[in-house]
Order: sequence, then structure tokens, then C-alpha cells
Amino acid sequence: MSAEIIDGKAFAAGLRERVGTHAGDFEAKAGRKAGLAVVLVGEDPASQVYVRSKGKQTVAAGMASFEHKLPADTSQSDLIAMVEQLNADPGVDGILVQLPLPDHLDEHTVISTISPDKDVDGFHVINAGRLAVGQSGFVPCTPLGCMMLLADRMGDLSGKDAVVIGRSNIVGKPMAQLLLDANATVTIAHSRTKDLPEVVRRADIVVAAVGRAEMVKAEWLKPGAVVIDVGINRLPPADGEDKGKLVGDVDFGGASEVAGAITPVPGGVGPMTIAVLLRNSLVAAYRNEGLDVPVDL
Ligand code: GUN
Repeated sequence: MSAEIIDGKAFAAGLRERVGTHAGDFEAKAGRKAGLAVVLVGEDPASQVYVRSKGKQTVAAGMASFEHKLPADTSQSDLIAMVEQLNADPGVDGILVQLPLPDHLDEHTVISTISPDKDVDGFHVINAGRLAVGQSGFVPCTPLGCMMLLADRMGDLSGKDAVVIGRSNIVGKPMAQLLLDANATVTIAHSRTKDLPEVVRRADIVVAAVGRAEMVKAEWLKPGAVVIDVGINRLPPADGEDKGKLVGDVDFGGASEVAGAITPVPGGVGPMTIAVLLRNSLVAAYRNEGLDVPVDL
């Protein structure tokens, strides 16, 4: 059997298009563009790439992008003052502080300073709590993107057995909450889980978010399972290669012979994250203006 390849790149493009249409509608109603502010501290090259990409896609969707680049030695109090200024700015609907922060800064304190109603990353404890109790708030972009891909492929998830491998605050835990909300039976597996292959073999849905290259093998999967691979790992360069290949947490070659559907790496979950960030930012804008949020966002 050969799995259907879930085309996250195409799905993300469709979502960005819907966001673009509604962003125009928002501007007409509110008399201003929806705005996303991104704060980058220091010069981490991967973070610079992400931030540039976020800025470009925000503008392409017809929203305002505010980039704040601060030096690596920025003090905690200066960073907090910057976040407070953005909280108070009526033209800013969403605030994202790019992580990781330099070591001398306390991530938890900085994230806690962001107004929960502008926390489009969904990292604030208030939003984690809202998700846990089923209130509307903001859900972290990567797991929400995974849910959109699952819903698109599978429709109703009621009664499905789902295994989430990984328990991070950013992906594993919110992913499990979302699956539970969708009435799946959810297992969260992690590095101390006994007999992981056996646990995974029970699952109709496997979400791999551990950050270990090609860890999930074909033999672990129930035939027909839907596999969402959140991992992005770079293999060591092979002979003659400049850079190693990008691979997920799932052994794609083998797994695609057994799974019913699977996300590739790259081109699966990755492109969804920024598309959902734009979606969350536009939702924040509608809510901040007291307008109804369009149902197809
Ligand atoms: N660093 C890498 N991905 C992300 C993200 O989605 N949000 C934030 N704030 N930092 C990141």
C-alpha cells in the first residue's frame, strides 16, 4: 500500500489566501489593517530566517508587519518595556516574541507579559489554561495546523485512537488537548514510555513531535494510520553534500508504505505554522475590534 501524501504546502497556501481575503474585509470594516508585531532579540541565524519569512507573509496577506530587532544584550526590563508598549498599541493585534531568547532573559516572564488577547503564539499560561478547559483563546500555531490537516483528511475524529509522541508545551501538550476536544482517545508518549512501538501500533492517528530523526519506523504503524510528522531534523551531510538532508521524526520511506496518509518533511506541517500565525493574528484583530470572526478562518 502506498500512503496519500498530505500536501501541507498547498493547504497552507489555501489558508493564506483565505486570510488575505478576510484581511481585506477586516480593513474595510475597521478602517485599518490587522497588525502583527514580531520581536527578535539577538542574531540567531535560524530565527532571522523565520522572522523575515513571517514579515513577508504578513505583508503578502494584506496585514501590517511590525518588526522590532533588539541587540543580543538587551536587558530583561527593556524587553518587557517593549512588550508593554506593543500591548498598549491599538494598531498591534498580535505579538510574537521569537524564541529561543538569549540565556540571560527569562522566557516565562517575557511571555507572561504579553496580553493574552494579543498572544497569537498561544504560549501564555492564560491561553494554555483556556485550551485546557475548552474556552476560546489562542492555540499554538503548529498543533492547530496539524489539526487542520487531520480534519481535512479524516473529517470527524470521534473515537479514533491517537498517539502524540512528545510532551512539549508548544506542540505535544496542546496537540493532545486538541485531539481530546475532537473526541479522540489520546495517549501522550515520551522518552520514558514503555514499549513505544506497541503503543504506536494501536493508533489510527500518530503525531510525532520528538525531534529525533526518523525515529518512528514503518513496523510501528497500524496499516492505514494517518501520520503527522512535526519533526524537522538535519542529517549529517553525506559524501559530496554541503548540508545534510532535512528529515522528520518518521522514517518516511518505510512509513509511506504502511500509513494511509502521511505528511512529508519538508512540505508537510512546516508551512502550516506561519499560515496559522497569520490566521491567529487576523482572528485577534476581529476580536480586538469586537467584530464577528469569519467561520472559515
Ligand atoms: N521559534 C521557532 N518557532 C517559533 C514560534 O512559532 N514562535 C515563537 N515565538 N518562536 C519560535
